[in-house]
Amino acid sequence: MSTLAAQPINTSRLDLLPLHVEHAEEMAAVLSDPALHTFIGGTPDAPQALRSRYQRTTAGSPDPAVSWLNWVIRLRDKSCLTGTVQATVSPSGHGPIAEIAWVVGTPWQGRGIATEAARGLVARLGRQPVRTVIAHIHPEHRASAAVATAAGLTPTDEWHEGEMRWHRSIRR
Ligand SMILES: CC(C)(COP(=O)(O)OP(=O)(O)OC[C@H]1O[C@@H](n2cnc3c(N)ncnc32)[C@H](O)[C@@H]1OP(=O)(O)O)[C@@H](O)C(=O)NCCC(=O)NCCS
Repeated sequence: MSTLAAQPINTSRLDLLPLHVEHAEEMAAVLSDPALHTFIGGTPDAPQALRSRYQRTTAGSPDPAVSWLNWVIRLRDKSCLTGTVQATVSPSGHGPIAEIAWVVGTPWQGRGIATEAARGLVARLGRQPVRTVIAHIHPEHRASAAVATAAGLTPTDEWHEGEMRWHRSIRR
C-alpha cells in the first residue's frame, strides 16, 4: 500500500486543512483546556511542545505501509482553528483500515463541528483505498459516541485499552 497524504476537505461550514507545524501556536490555545483529556488521557501541550509534536507528526509514519493523515478544523466564517481530525491508515487482512479520531476545543464545542468534520473525513476516506473505518471511544464518552454514530460508525463488542471499538465498512 502506498503512503497517502492529507488533502484539503471542505464541508458546508468547515475547511479541514492538512496539519502544518505553523498551526501549533494557534492550536495550543484551542486545545489548552485540561478537560479535553478526560477520556483520552494526557495533558495539554504548551506551544513549543505542540510544535515538536506536529513536527514529528508531519514527518510521517516511520512505517511506509502506514499513513498518518492529520487536519486542523477551520471554521470558515470566523477564519479560526477549532480542533483537529486524524486518520491512521494501515494494511489489514481485509484491506486498508483507517482509525479516526477528533478533538474540538472547549469554546467551540456543542455547535456540531466534530460531527460535520467527522462526516467530511469519512466521506473522503470512502474515496480513498480504504475498506474499513474504526474509532476507539471510551464507553462513557457520549459526545464522541454521537459523533461516531453521525459518521456512520456502529459500536462493536471489541475493546482496545479500555475503549470500545466502533466500525464502519466502506461499500463501493
Ligand atoms: C468529542 C468532541 C470532539 C465533540 O465535539 P463537538 O464539536 O462538541 O461535537 P458536536 O457539537 O458535533 O456534538 C456531537 C454530539 O455530542 C453531543 N454532545 C456534545 N457535548 C456533549 C456532552 N458534554 N455530553 C453529552 N453529549 C454531548 C451533541 O449533542 C451531539 O449529539 P447529537 O448529534 O445527538 O445532538 C469533543 O467533546 C472533544 O474534543 N472532546 C475531547 C477529545 C476527545 O475525547 N476526542 C475523542 C477521541 S475519539
